[in-house]
Amino acid sequence: MKIITTVNELRAHLAHFKRPAFVPTMGNLHDGHLALVRQAKPLGDVLVASIFVNRLQFLPHEDFDTYPRTWAADCQALADAGCDVLFAPSESELYPQPQGYKVQPPVALADLLEGHFRPGFFIGVCTVVMKLFACVQPRVAVFGQKDYQQLMVIKGMVQQFALPIEVVAGRTLRAADGLALSSRNNYLSATERAEAVHLSGTLQQMAQALKNGSSDIAALEQQALDSLTKRGWQPDYLVVRRRLDLQPPSASEVADLVQQQGLVVLGAARLGATRLIDNLEV
Ligand code: PAJ
Repeated sequence: MKIITTVNELRAHLAHFKRPAFVPTMGNLHDGHLALVRQAKPLGDVLVASIFVNRLQFLPHEDFDTYPRTWAADCQALADAGCDVLFAPSESELYPQPQGYKVQPPVALADLLEGHFRPGFFIGVCTVVMKLFACVQPRVAVFGQKDYQQLMVIKGMVQQFALPIEVVAGRTLRAADGLALSSRNNYLSATERAEAVHLSGTLQQMAQALKNGSSDIAALEQQALDSLTKRGWQPDYLVVRRRLDLQPPSASEVADLVQQQGLVVLGAARLGATRLIDNLEV
C-alpha cells in the first residue's frame, strides 16, 4: 500500500489509473470501514482510502481534539484489507488557507436530524468530501448506511453538481449484540458498552411495531424516547421518516410505506459523554 500525503503526489500516482474507487474515512478504523474497502475494491482499478479528521465538521464543543487517532493500526488494517493507496493529508495540505468556499447542502435535507443537533455539520462534510473528490477524482465512492443522512446528502451533492462519480451504499456492520460499529464506541466504559445495545434494540422495536401495523408515529416515537431516557440515555431524536426525503410520513401513508419498504427509523442519543447514532430501514 502506498501512503501519500500531498495532493500533487496523489494526482501523479493516480494518473496511471482509469477508475479509482474511493472510501473516505476519519481513521480509527474498525471492521465497518474495512468492509467498505473490501466492497469498493472490485469496483475500480485502484482502491484509494483517505484518513483525514475534518475539523470543519466538528462544532467547537465537540470531540475534534480527542477524536481517536490510531495511525499505525489503521495503516496495517487498510493494507490487509487490500487498499492500494492511502491518502492522508495534513490539515495544512488540505486546507492551506482557511476554507472560505464551502458546499451548502439544501436545508430541507441537511438542517434536520443530524444537521439540527449539529448545526453546520453537513456543510463541513460536503465541503471536505467535495475537496477529497477533487483530489482523488474517483469514479466510484462507497459510503456507509450507518450514516444514513450523510449518504443521502452526498448522493444529492454528486447528482446536483453532476460529478462523474457513482455513490454506492455499504451496509452497517454490527457487533454480535447489534451495536453498530463506530469509532466513538471506544469512548464507552464497560457498563456503557453493555447498555449501548439498547439504541439498536429500540430502533428494532420501532421497526417491528410499524411492521405489526402501528401507524401512530408520534406515540411510537414518544415511547422510544421515554424508554431510553428511563435507562439513563439523553436522546436527541428517535424518529420514523420516509426514506425518500427523511420527512415524517403522514398517518395516511404509513401503512403503504411499510408495505413498499419506504420507511427508515433513525436515532441519535447520548450515553454519558458519548453520542451514538444508528438507523434501520423498515
Ligand atoms: P467516518 O465516521 O470515519 O466513517 C467513514 C465511512 O465509514 C462512512 O461512510 C461511514 O458511514 C462508514 N461507517 C461507519 N461505521 C460503519 C459501520 N458500522 N458499518 C459500515 N460503514 C460504517 O463519515 C465520516 O467518517 C466522515 O463524515 C467523512 C465522510 C470521512 C467526511 O469527513
